[in-house]
Formats: sequence, structure tokens, C-alpha cells
Amino acid sequence: MKIRKAVFPVAGLGTRVLPATKAMPKEMLTIVDRPLIQYVFDEAKEAGIEHFVFVTGRNKTAIEDHFDRMYELDATLAARGKKTEMEILARDQPEAGAVSFTRQQSPLGLGHAVWCARDIVGDEPFAVVLPDELVLNKPGCLAQMIAAASELPEKANVLAVQEVPADQTHQYGICGVGKRDGKMFEVDGMVEKPAKGTAPSNFSITGRYILQPEIFKILATQERGAGGEIQLTDAMIGLSKTQKFYGVEFEGERHDCGSKSGFLRANIAFAMARPDLRDGLREDMKKYLAD
Ligand code: G1P
Repeated sequence: MKIRKAVFPVAGLGTRVLPATKAMPKEMLTIVDRPLIQYVFDEAKEAGIEHFVFVTGRNKTAIEDHFDRMYELDATLAARGKKTEMEILARDQPEAGAVSFTRQQSPLGLGHAVWCARDIVGDEPFAVVLPDELVLNKPGCLAQMIAAASELPEKANVLAVQEVPADQTHQYGICGVGKRDGKMFEVDGMVEKPAKGTAPSNFSITGRYILQPEIFKILATQERGAGGEIQLTDAMIGLSKTQKFYGVEFEGERHDCGSKSGFLRANIAFAMARPDLRDGLREDMKKYLAD
């Protein structure tokens, strides 16, 4: 199964981290020195994705600018002989024509955001990557999923899953566990944000999906679900009547950067994974951890 396109739903308001996100997209918040959106873009690129589809909304133009060339900046850096900085910008620059932007005009939910990308994706399997969730690992989460998907029959759908404590299952989409083969299992039922004590398992859907294009037809008429939003999970339940879904337990530490504590932890974890920052940060932290 060749996956060429990835959809990044980036229209969300980021209300959990206001006021930081009042005038800036939450996807532009930085983990160390790179915006969140750059990490998931890199994860998708590493996984072999060739076309990057962003579903944006109002106040999100900084994301488009981030993936564009900044001629004034390039010229100034060149004039000042700042080679390293020029290399960083060149490395992160997507190939011309490899990014598309469309808008979700109303905040109707994740399912609706994915549906907004239907014409750009067309009739081929595709990935969905939620920028709120970062996974610290090489190979990245999406590359692990695509490798797992290559062993599955055509028309399979794949979800990255990870166990969460029982008292957190109500915050996620949760899937039931069917026939197991190593790190992969057949999904046996899904539910979006189950009421406490009703989850079919502890396996949460973690913001990385490989979906077949038939999902779009279902999304077109999907009714509102949990939180009054058009939920991707509900459309996947519909698609699971005719196609198989598999859960892949991936390797790597998952960080929910949409919450304050998760965002701070991610900054520490990603900084500690950087050889240029690790030792200094460890020394600095001793002071704060002393009592
Ligand atoms: C979304 C999905 C949910 C998934 C979660 C992962 O929820 O609807 O199924 O478990 O992302 O982060 P949200 O966090 O947007 O409420």
C-alpha cells in the first residue's frame, strides 16, 4: 500500500493554551526551536509522504508562511554570511507544489476537517496526522505504521494505538482488541470519548491514521457525535462495516502537546534528546529539582 498524501487538520482554536494561542496558531508553538507543525511534517516526510495537505482556518496564515520561502530573510542571511541558518531554512523547505492548503470554514469537528481535504486527496489511501501529538522515536510513528500496513491486504485502515490508564480513556477514541499478531491487532469496535467505566479496552487512538478514501463518502453525511462535533471515529465505525481496521502499537514516547503539562514535558524530552542541549539542561534542571 503506497501512501503519498498526509492530511494535517490544523483549524483548531487551541483554547487549552490561551492566551498563547490568541493571535498565533497552536501548531506554531515551539518545542525547543521548531514549531509543532514542523515536527509532524518531518515525521510524514521521513515516512515517504510526498504531498502535505493542511486543513486550516481563520488566524492560521502563519502556517502557510512557515512553509513558504522568505525572500527578504534569505537575502539578509546571505548578505551577512549566515550559512548555518540558511541551511536550516533550506532543509525545512518543502518542494514546490508539495503542499496544499484548504480551509475548514466552521469548527465542526475532526471528521469534518478531514472531509474538507477530499478533493485534494482524491481516490487513494492517505494518512491523517494530528499535530497535537508528538512521538519521540526514530523511525517515527507514521513510518512504523506504513511499514506495518505494507503487510496488510489492500483496503486496510490502520490506527496508531497506545494504552492509557483507565481513568484517561474518556479523553480519547478507544478501540476494542480483536485477533492479535505481535504489535498489531484487528480492531473490534471503536468509541469516541467513552463515558467513564465503559471503554472496551485501554487502547487509545493516538492521532495517526491510515485511511481508505471510502471514508470521505461516509464523512459527507456523518452526523454530529461526542461534543456535538462530526467525529472521525464515528465515520471509521461506519467504514469498519465494510473494511478492516488494524491497531498498531508503536514504539516511542507520546506527548500530548495540546495540554500545558504535556507541552512542557515534550519540550524537556525533545531537548534532552538533543546532543547540543542535553548536558546544559541537565545541569540547569538540578536547581529546580533540588527540593
Ligand atoms: C482526537 C480524536 C480521538 C483521539 C485524539 C488523539 O480527539 O477524536 O479519537 O484519541 O484526537 O489525540 P481530540 O484530542 O481532538 O479531542
